Amino acid sequence: MIFGRVKPLDAILATAEKKSLHRSLGAFQLTMLGVGAIIGTGIFVLTAEAAQKAGPGMLRSFIIAGLVCAVAALCYAEMASMVPVSGSAYTYSYAVMGELLAWMVGWALVLEYAVAAGAVSVGWSGYFVGLLREYLGIALPQELVNANALIAHIKLAFGAAPSTELATAIDVGGYINLPAFIIALLVTWLLVIGTRESAMVNAVLVVVKITALTVFCVLALPVMNSANFEPFAPLGFGGISAAAASIFFAYVGFDAVSTAAEETKNPQRNMPIGLIGSLAICTVFYLLVASGVIGSVGAQPVYDAAGKGISPGDATAMAAACATAAGEAVVCSKEALAWTLREIGWQQIGNLVGLAAGLALPSVVLMMMFGQTRIFFVMSRDGLLPEALSRIHPKYHTPHLVTIITGIVVAVFAALFPVGALADISNSGTLFAFAMVAIAVMVLRKTDPGRVRPFRTPAVMLVAPLAILGCLYLFFSLSGYTLSLFAGWAVAGLFVYFLYSRHHSHVGLGMVHVHEEDPDTPPQPVPPMPGASLD
Ligand code: ALA
Repeated sequence: MIFGRVKPLDAILATAEKKSLHRSLGAFQLTMLGVGAIIGTGIFVLTAEAAQKAGPGMLRSFIIAGLVCAVAALCYAEMASMVPVSGSAYTYSYAVMGELLAWMVGWALVLEYAVAAGAVSVGWSGYFVGLLREYLGIALPQELVNANALIAHIKLAFGAAPSTELATAIDVGGYINLPAFIIALLVTWLLVIGTRESAMVNAVLVVVKITALTVFCVLALPVMNSANFEPFAPLGFGGISAAAASIFFAYVGFDAVSTAAEETKNPQRNMPIGLIGSLAICTVFYLLVASGVIGSVGAQPVYDAAGKGISPGDATAMAAACATAAGEAVVCSKEALAWTLREIGWQQIGNLVGLAAGLALPSVVLMMMFGQTRIFFVMSRDGLLPEALSRIHPKYHTPHLVTIITGIVVAVFAALFPVGALADISNSGTLFAFAMVAIAVMVLRKTDPGRVRPFRTPAVMLVAPLAILGCLYLFFSLSGYTLSLFAGWAVAGLFVYFLYSRHHSHVGLGMVHVHEEDPDTPPQPVPPMPGASLD
């Protein structure tokens, strides 16, 4: 039953064939597309979280996460070029491993996209608060920039023992991250009225982000002090692995390259260049930026009263530690790169780097939220979620209902949780989905070897297992708390599937729809196909 109800690949491909996009993208454009989608909260904000987990050893974490992404990307690209339709990993899994696993992947992708949109909103908020303070002299009250006091109250209400740490969090913490809440709602509104990021805006933002990171390196690297690299791994290899699992977030987004496969000239040559090229460029930048942070201002973690390294996802403990003198550290900053530059005497340039992040991060929120609505849209079109969700707005021609629901949930998450916790949860879903895609590539090579593959993963029997192992390693390096949330989410997903989706699935009911790719076009049902239900 687990592998039952496979959606016929030919029906999926019929969808893709209905639109024939002009093949115009070359290696350079693909690489830029990737860099634009990848650089965001990860490097601008989570560098501080990685330092809290690994200290200077975060350099190794960046390399490990980059390598796992590179092998996963090569697998992703084969599927994306062969099945170039919306829904990404969810759709591939439906065609190869059947409905139940596809549902689980789609369910996990909610974590990847929606929770990531929340994480980037929180990341943006940190920079926005800094910009208000530096440029306009407005200090937003603590009550409105995080929810640490609220979390402490909730912990106490659920029976946590009163402690100085919780008391400090209540003293210095807040109740809602208002800027993060507002940016998430603003992006939702843009998506409802049909805004999509144009190639032009992406190109400008890529230049803005690369310029900001380059300026950072030029100013921070020359003042490096080698003593700041000691101790290199204060929390051991466990800390380096945990930081790799978190900083994986900084690389997410390369799937944008894979999904452009059908618009790519000579995909067999250009896809791997675009994928590996954009990952390599980002890895080099990340290593230089991280070295700049470590070398110039130091990157040692802060510890709790018992001398234990604090998990950066533990908002109340971090708030308490950062409220002390030790808090004058990059690991406590919500705008790590701008903070570092100000620390080493480049106040105005630090503000400009902050401005670059403030301008660029909302587009990452937009991309993530758009990805989420697209996945929900496809799942609802397959009958696994209520069809009302794929309803199209008469004026704006967008799936407004699913966009608004997604936006509200994202905004609430962004209002309440710290960026590191959200990024980790998002990573758990992404790692699961990537591992499933790597499995699907291998399975399909065996079950359907003759199918045309515009791009073939090189040395697939080596690369795909490496991708699976890499994803598993990072997945299990996430905190126990994150893994238990993932498990809870998966169990909830199974309930929804068996109580609702299984009975409404179009494949299960023997209907296979052939749709236009574009959600602007209402679904066009076709008569049931014989043999569509395979269970
Ligand atoms: N890689 C993207 C970021 O760091 C998700 O914001």
